Amino acid sequence: MKAGGQARNSTAGNETRSSFSSRLGYVLAVAGSAVGLGNIWRFPYLAAKYGGGIFLLVYLILMLTFGYALIMSETALGRMTRRSPVGAFQAFGKSWHFRLGGWVNAIIPMLIVPYYCVIGGWVTKYLFEYLRGSTIMLADDNYFHGFIAESFGAEFWFLLFSVAVVLVLLAGVKHGVERVSKVMMPLLVILAIFVAGYAMTRPGALEGVKYFLIPNFANFSWMTVVAAMGQMFFSLSIAMGILYTYGSYMKKDVDIEKSTFQVEAFDTGIAMLAGLMVIPAVFAFSGGDPDALKAGPSLMFITIPKVFASMGFGTGAGLMFFLLVFMAALTSAISLAESGVSTFEDQLGWSRKACTLLMGAIIIILGSASALGFGVLDFVAPLGMSLLDFFDFLTNSLMMPVAALSTCLLVTRVVGLKKITEEVELSSRFKQKQIYAFMIKYLAPIFIIIILLSSMASVLGWISM
Ligand code: ALA
Repeated sequence: MKAGGQARNSTAGNETRSSFSSRLGYVLAVAGSAVGLGNIWRFPYLAAKYGGGIFLLVYLILMLTFGYALIMSETALGRMTRRSPVGAFQAFGKSWHFRLGGWVNAIIPMLIVPYYCVIGGWVTKYLFEYLRGSTIMLADDNYFHGFIAESFGAEFWFLLFSVAVVLVLLAGVKHGVERVSKVMMPLLVILAIFVAGYAMTRPGALEGVKYFLIPNFANFSWMTVVAAMGQMFFSLSIAMGILYTYGSYMKKDVDIEKSTFQVEAFDTGIAMLAGLMVIPAVFAFSGGDPDALKAGPSLMFITIPKVFASMGFGTGAGLMFFLLVFMAALTSAISLAESGVSTFEDQLGWSRKACTLLMGAIIIILGSASALGFGVLDFVAPLGMSLLDFFDFLTNSLMMPVAALSTCLLVTRVVGLKKITEEVELSSRFKQKQIYAFMIKYLAPIFIIIILLSSMASVLGWISM
């Protein structure tokens, strides 16, 4: 692949590694990775389900502490070693601990991106239907489940979305990932503000705005914390190998700390706008009915189309909304797949094209299983879940806490805070150094073990997620 910008010397000695061309290019590409289905599809349904304002408050606290420490660590380690996760871990040791830590971080995005592309395919289908003006049809109670159970259609839209992802990757880092993000991210902000403004001014929507923004401690439960932690991993692209990979493409003069805050602010801003699009709309439509608020993953595909169908200009609003989700999903899917491609490049030494095609094959095989899991493959139900839910649970609830814990251990037990500080200070003073040290040594490992135990307890049926 053509190297974008100047590739720098690195501890790993990889002289020709691609890099983002500027700080803005880097921030937009990471923001493009972070802002995705996690913000627009996952965040509003979790916030609606787990207490509204209190969920938001817990999420913000976790993001500024735990999330900050992990983003800083993964990015610094990626840039220090100039390697994606497997190489980054093995730059510090060759024993099985390092291999396990690296591979767990590397495999997660390879397992997520196939099912992510399935949901991307559903979004593409809805976008297409809004373009055709099928607003009433999409609002039908049975439409969504009928569509995903109809195997040919779900597979077709999944393949279409996946091909788009692979084509951008073939274009490379500077010419593909960075360029797409630079155009799409600012457009996404404008669209999000417009749709949120529209949703909030519907009659009855103000109650939803209050539910979402004002914390009510009566709505707090242990699951509020567990759900907010899982969401933070997913949304900020933590423990998915992505930040190691993008860090490895980051130039040495980019301020890691400042970029981290900018990415967090951008990601959380979009999640809040998504909350302001979806939750007030549900209130306007259902009057805050608890069942509607707890609709879960289907909120975006069933409840929201009903909202659009019941409004004037519903087709236009639906079109805007699904265009927004499509753009966000595309940039995130690209980053997930890019992380896999980069691992293959580093570990197999193949050309970028061959590695991209290998990643494409994995997406198609595993993604087809998830896409068909609601239709012809619905008899395959590991742990009683659909294949898509199973891959989501396996990665988010079990593997990601292990990956994050391995990063904390790598920083505190092997690399040392001194080296991380030196890497961060190549560009500017490490302002939150003390807070970072406390987080990565104590708070983050404790939080991670809590998520892992809660997830295991839920597999065993001891608590309900
Ligand atoms: N961080 C990405 C998202 O939120 C994966 O969708």
